[in-house]
Formats: sequence, structure tokens, C-alpha cells
Amino acid sequence: MKSVVRPSELREVVSAWRRGGERIAFVPTMGNLHAGHSSLVGRAAELADRVIVSIFVNPLQFGPNEDFAAYPRTPGEDRRVLESLQVDLLFAPEVADIYPRGQESTARVHVPVIEDILCGAFRPGHFMGVATVVTKLLNIVQPDVAVFGEKDYQQLLIIRRATLDLCMPVEIVGVPTMREADGLAMSSRNRYLSTAERAVAPAIHAELERAGKAIEAGDADFAAIARRGSDALRQAGFRPDYFEIRDAATLDEASAQSGELVVLTAARIGRARLIDNVRAQRKPG
Ligand code: PAJ
Repeated sequence: MKSVVRPSELREVVSAWRRGGERIAFVPTMGNLHAGHSSLVGRAAELADRVIVSIFVNPLQFGPNEDFAAYPRTPGEDRRVLESLQVDLLFAPEVADIYPRGQESTARVHVPVIEDILCGAFRPGHFMGVATVVTKLLNIVQPDVAVFGEKDYQQLLIIRRATLDLCMPVEIVGVPTMREADGLAMSSRNRYLSTAERAVAPAIHAELERAGKAIEAGDADFAAIARRGSDALRQAGFRPDYFEIRDAATLDEASAQSGELVVLTAARIGRARLIDNVRAQRKPG
């Protein structure tokens, strides 16, 4: 597998592929790769002739009191994972390659309203950082298709909206969440969990599923369903930031008009802040 650091080197490789008429898929990551990331790479390989993966822990999307310094960095292991998946090119830029004039003065991408709700309300500036870096990465790589996980559901919708609104010629594909056997969504941040915290962590998915099933059974008292979920997580030892039922297409508050819904939560335990979601189809009529 070829590996490049500088955007100019990446452009050279990609231009040659493009001249050869090859279709290019791109999977942006922050590294510390797990089976969730691998499933994105697998989907990318189905969609294109060439797969490019980036590893970049993006300082712009971390708040001042968040885990940028502590975020797990495992470049050797990641390389082996990507080799085994037959990825064509690893793009692993340094901060100065992405923010040559510093991150404070860089042009930024905002996606109004949706960037300020749910996780955005608890992590001010986070989705601006995500939308900005993803826009930059997409402009550097210029893939035909880019693949993202549904685990970060709000992120996926924000990226869809940013690329659409900014007329970026790329298709955005979402991939279902990969989970551990007990339901816990795979995440690089799961390694922050102590043994005792790891033992209760599956409650997140269990409570989302319970809420989803209630909705699918016809219960339309969304506020009560959400309160039950949040209370159950608190009982299990979490500090939930939110537990909400939203329109799956827009993330607006769920209403009688919403077709497909999504139940989303973010909950803290110890040093970890875990997020997850499940979709729920309302009964017609
Ligand atoms: P990261 O957390 O490394 O995730 C990279 C991609 O993997 C994202 O699209 C994420 O949704 C997906 N992913 C993570 N866990 C998953 C799981 N259990 N199942 C399926 N997909 C999963 O998300 C980011 O990095 C960054 O914000 C990034 C988009 C790279 C911008 O910096």
C-alpha cells in the first residue's frame, strides 16, 4: 500500500488513476481503526476501482477541554489493517498540511441549525470542525464517492448537506453501525471504558432498541419514550447528554408527519462519551 503525507503527492497519484478512467472511493478516518472502519472500506471497495483512506486526527473538531491530545493514535496497527484490506492509498497528512496558516484563521464550513442541535449543543464548534475538514479532504482527494458510518448519524447528515449545498460533485454513502456481540457500537473511544463501565455500556444500545420498538409498536408519546430511555441510562450509571427521537431525514423534532424516525443518544460514563442511534419506522395510519 502506498502512503502519502502531502496533499500534492496525493493529487499526483489520484490524477494518474483518474486519467486511466478509474473510479475512486474515499474513507476519511481519525485512525485507531476497528471493524466499523473496515466495513466502510469494504463498502468503498464495492463502489470503486480504487480506495483511499485518510487518517487525520483533526484538531479543529475538538473542543478545548476534549480529548485531542489523548485520542488514541496507533499508526503501525492501522497500516497493517489497511494493508490487509487491500487499500490502495493511505493519506496521513500532518496538521500543517491541512491548516498551513493555522486552524484559527482557516476558512470554515458551517451547516446552520443542524450543527447546533443534539451533539452540537454539547460540543460547540465540533460540527464546524468536521464539516470544514471533510470539505478540505474531499477537495484534496476529489473522489467519486465518500463513505461514512451511520454510527455518527448527525455527522453523516451534516456532510450530506454540506456537500449538496456547496455543489461538491461527490456521492455520500452511509454504512450501518458495526457493533460488538453485546450491542455496543464499535468506537475508538470504547478504550476509555474501565472493565466495570464496559460491562454496563451495552445499556445504550439496549435502551435505544427499547425506544425504537415502542415507536414501531405504535406508541407516539415520544417525550415519554425519551424520558424512559434517559432515566434508564441514568439508572445504569450514565450521565446522558440527550436521548431524543427525531425525523431521520432532517433531525427535526419528530412529528405526526415524520415517516422514518431515529432515536439518538449521547451519554457519558467515566472519561468516555458514547453516542449511538437506531432507526424506527412508524406504523402507517
Ligand atoms: P472516526 O471516528 O475515525 O470515524 C471514521 C468513520 O468511521 C466515520 O464515518 C464514522 O461514522 C465511521 N464509524 C465509526 N465507528 C463506526 C461503527 N461502529 N460502525 C460503522 N462506522 C463507524 O468520524 C470521524 O472519524 C471524523 O469526524 C471524520 C469524519 C474523519 C472527520 O475528521
